[in-house]
Amino acid sequence: MQAKDLLLTRSSMPRVVSPGPSAEQLRLLEQAALRVPDHMSLTPYTCLVYQGAALQQLSEIYTAVSKLEDLTPAEQERAGQLPLRAPCVIVIATQYQVKEKVPSLEQYASAACATMAMQQMAFTLGLGAVWRTGVYAESNHMKAALGISSDNDIVGFLYVGTPAVPTPIKPSKDIQLFTQM
Ligand SMILES: Cc1cc2nc3c(=O)[nH]c(=O)nc-3n(C[C@H](O)[C@H](O)[C@H](O)COP(=O)(O)O)c2cc1C
Repeated sequence: MQAKDLLLTRSSMPRVVSPGPSAEQLRLLEQAALRVPDHMSLTPYTCLVYQGAALQQLSEIYTAVSKLEDLTPAEQERAGQLPLRAPCVIVIATQYQVKEKVPSLEQYASAACATMAMQQMAFTLGLGAVWRTGVYAESNHMKAALGISSDNDIVGFLYVGTPAVPTPIKPSKDIQLFTQM
């Protein structure tokens, strides 16, 4: 795929199934995440990859967190199924460093770029991926369960797998974004 085509046609894939990414494909996602703009090259983020048995553990964490967050009975019932919607879930979390020249906001921006880069790489490889957040990304209970300190942020859960449906074609945004000055 041409880089221009990627940038002009990239789409998320809301429904993915097995097989998940191969080891080589995961390595490409990792490399893409390491290639993003990064002020002072801090790499202020980490990625936790859940597949197979680990994904089952993540499912149990979701269930436990849904209870700790006192979500509705219906949400608690559904919680464990959420991460099982993909054969591979990558949790992207910040690893903020105290740097006078690089405020946390910039470091979060790099982590978000890394998430986007992985989503783009998945698309390029013919995989499907979608960036999800929600209450679980905000939860300190979730952070604790994943070993992420409460002063860091979960940037997202990237669901990766084989596309289960044709790529949704979004209409182009009819917006004049640029203001000529
Ligand atoms: C920070 C962030 C968080 C998101 N969280 C969710 C989410 O929790 N659930 C969801 O269905 N989509 C979420 N999305 C949207 C999808 O990732 C995706 O962008 C959307 O379905 C539109 O598809 P597109 O990427 O092809 O434009 C989020 C997007 C961003 C940037």
